[in-house]
Amino acid sequence: MRTYQQSAQYYERALRRIVGGVNSPSRSYGAVGMPHPIFIRRAEGAYMWDVDGNRYIDYLAAFAPGILGHAHPEIVETIAAAARDGTLYGTATPYEVELAERLHEAIPSLEKVRFVSTGTEAVMSAVRVARAYTGRPKVIKFEGCYHGHSDFALIKAGSGPATLGQPDSAGIPLSTAQEVITVPYNDLPALAQALEVWGSQVAAVLIEPICGNMGIVWPEPGFLEGVRELTRQYGALLIFDEIITAFRVCYGGAQNLLGVEPDLTTLGKAIGGGLPLGAYGGRAEIMDYVAPLGPAYQAGTLAGNPLSVRVALKALEILGRPGVYEDLDRKAAYLADNLLRIGRSYGFKLQLNRMASGFTLFFTDVPVRDYATASTSDQALFARFFREMLQRGILLAPSRFEAWFVQIPHTQADLDETLAAADEAFRAMAAEGLADRQADQG
Ligand SMILES: Cc1ncc(COP(=O)(O)O)c(C=O)c1O
Repeated sequence: MRTYQQSAQYYERALRRIVGGVNSPSRSYGAVGMPHPIFIRRAEGAYMWDVDGNRYIDYLAAFAPGILGHAHPEIVETIAAAARDGTLYGTATPYEVELAERLHEAIPSLEKVRFVSTGTEAVMSAVRVARAYTGRPKVIKFEGCYHGHSDFALIKAGSGPATLGQPDSAGIPLSTAQEVITVPYNDLPALAQALEVWGSQVAAVLIEPICGNMGIVWPEPGFLEGVRELTRQYGALLIFDEIITAFRVCYGGAQNLLGVEPDLTTLGKAIGGGLPLGAYGGRAEIMDYVAPLGPAYQAGTLAGNPLSVRVALKALEILGRPGVYEDLDRKAAYLADNLLRIGRSYGFKLQLNRMASGFTLFFTDVPVRDYATASTSDQALFARFFREMLQRGILLAPSRFEAWFVQIPHTQADLDETLAAADEAFRAMAAEGLADRQADQG
């Protein structure tokens, strides 16, 4: 039996001085029925160790950036070399030029980019540019997609595609909600209806091309093509939020795989190789609206800092090596297929959506295609499965709407240890009649 006493003590201290005891609400373990989160002291390769000395195989992957594994020797070396040269200049650097060129090679629609520090900044800035370029105020986004925590991004849906949104957080003025419309994912008629009502005021349609924030959800055939066509028809820009997908689905973005080109793209997570780095970019004529060339102001003291950028260059070099994505894909397929098989063998109703090395196991028998269907995933069963896996040294994201991410250093032995843990977890849950209860409820 693993114990978490030290974590519990740190949590007590944390609660006194850090709001909610965590620095991002998604790190809280409330939703998985634990009194406190675990506190991690160190990580290496595919493993993390908590303050109680428990070892975990890591599939949380820091909520998606983790792909190279922790403390990758070449990344550590790059950080040391960059640190010796100084970590922040407040000037232009040769590294950022090289990274911008590399990103354009990998994702051709990125004719020009601007580096920022986080995903939130990338999306906030891309939307500002879209508004500046089109001279229009409104944004359409999709239920279940997440785009960071800037004001407009935290507006939830109104009661239908023709209605304006409501603030999803305190502290956001109603006037901001009036500029946002949220429609269901994979629902082209709803988008068409929203554009019919608001089209002449819509600056941008913002979407995760493959969604990672209601669990993994694929765009259905023709959906993104339809979104592209409608945005052209109404003169709105199409922004792909590729903060999860870029360099996760392939060397490049989901747009490379899916063959739909947006006007603007946002990047973050994996591109930083574990350091804070975001970017937004796209068509040059649009990006030229950004200061100092254009009227849309956006700036950053830490933006494109040489430490993050040099690490990003190294991360892309590693990810660009032959066989990297094939290997990740093979490992994730093995893990996902067997998880589904094992869980179902104990009578659980499960759905699995996989996007290359990321996948979500939903505790439902309803195919998941949007937020409404993702929400049918049983919260109590997920929470119990999370705790059973944690007890067996497998670290997952503490939410039914997140994904497992397979990383380069995961070995076959890690995958088999994970499957053995899942077998025990499902068996323990089934022994308590939880599969039968799910069947009765379904
Ligand atoms: C698709 C997407 N966009 C934007 C963000 C915000 O990025 P950050 O947390 O770096 O601000 C996230 C974070 O989870 C994300 O998943």
